Amino acid sequence: MKKVLVAGGNSGIGLEAARQLAALGHHVILLGRDAQKGEAALAELEGRPGKAEFLAVDLSTHAGVRTAATTLLARHEWFDVLLHCTGVLIFDEVRTADGLHPFFAVNYLSRYHLTQLLLPALRKAESPRVIMLSADIALDTKIDFDQFPWFTPFEFSRARAAIQFGNHHYAAHLRDTEKNILSAVVNAGLADTGIWREALSTREGVLNSGRMNSVPESAQVPVALCLNNGWESGSYWGTLGKLEHTPLRLDTPATKRLISICRNLTGV
Ligand SMILES: NC(=O)c1ccc[n+]([C@@H]2O[C@H](COP(=O)([O-])OP(=O)(O)OC[C@H]3O[C@@H](n4cnc5c(N)ncnc54)[C@H](OP(=O)(O)O)[C@@H]3O)[C@@H](O)[C@H]2O)c1
Repeated sequence: MKKVLVAGGNSGIGLEAARQLAALGHHVILLGRDAQKGEAALAELEGRPGKAEFLAVDLSTHAGVRTAATTLLARHEWFDVLLHCTGVLIFDEVRTADGLHPFFAVNYLSRYHLTQLLLPALRKAESPRVIMLSADIALDTKIDFDQFPWFTPFEFSRARAAIQFGNHHYAAHLRDTEKNILSAVVNAGLADTGIWREALSTREGVLNSGRMNSVPESAQVPVALCLNNGWESGSYWGTLGKLEHTPLRLDTPATKRLISICRNLTGV
């Protein structure tokens, strides 16, 4: 039995992963903002062999991530897997309490910050792993450090790939610094979930083009990486539904610079 923390587990791909894991008897701890959705997710998981819990958290701010980590560490001695499925699709010039854009704060920085705070609990597991869902991003994406991390003014089309690519750099950093923790980034595909609520015309276009895949298809590789042994740390899994990976060979000075910025932002 594995203990899997699913950040963004009260809906979409995270909830589907939790369904599959709980059906196999694993213990899932779901994180999400919306407590009602969390309760509905728990009601749905009831009756499956695995235990399920929900914690309402706001991972868009430094304080919210710290509160989440403090509660989790008080309740759990270890985690086998940290599966990051949090995400928002926000195009407007809005900012969190920390002055960051929510697309950066939720889709990348919360992964870095929460993982760093939970490292002591991950290190206690036998074969710990950190798995981050992201989009289909080219592996030669460059981080524009004139923009990173404030992205002011926020231009989604310009900032999107660099922000998502932070996950890849963090996976490479974990591989290089935490020898016993497996790290991976997975392409989430294009699944019809709540993520599209602020991008309805784009969703319509994807639906009409026939490129939308099912939510279980998007959950397939993340669930396999939660459970399988022997896969390569610091890897990118870019093909939907297939256990095919590319080792992340990134620009190490860029990784170091990015991690140093994240350390300054979060204090860890
Ligand atoms: N679906 C796609 O086609 C697609 C494409 C590319 C990448 N992805 C990535 O795949 C992952 C899963 O997305 P999804 O499609 O399953 O979307 P989703 O159903 O909207 O799930 C997103 C999850 O993130 C949580 N979340 C958002 N903001 C949060 C915050 N401030 N604090 C805590 N939790 C927060 C949501 O909880 P609440 O609902 O309670 O806010 C929800 O559980 C995301 O990382 C997304 O970027 C998805």
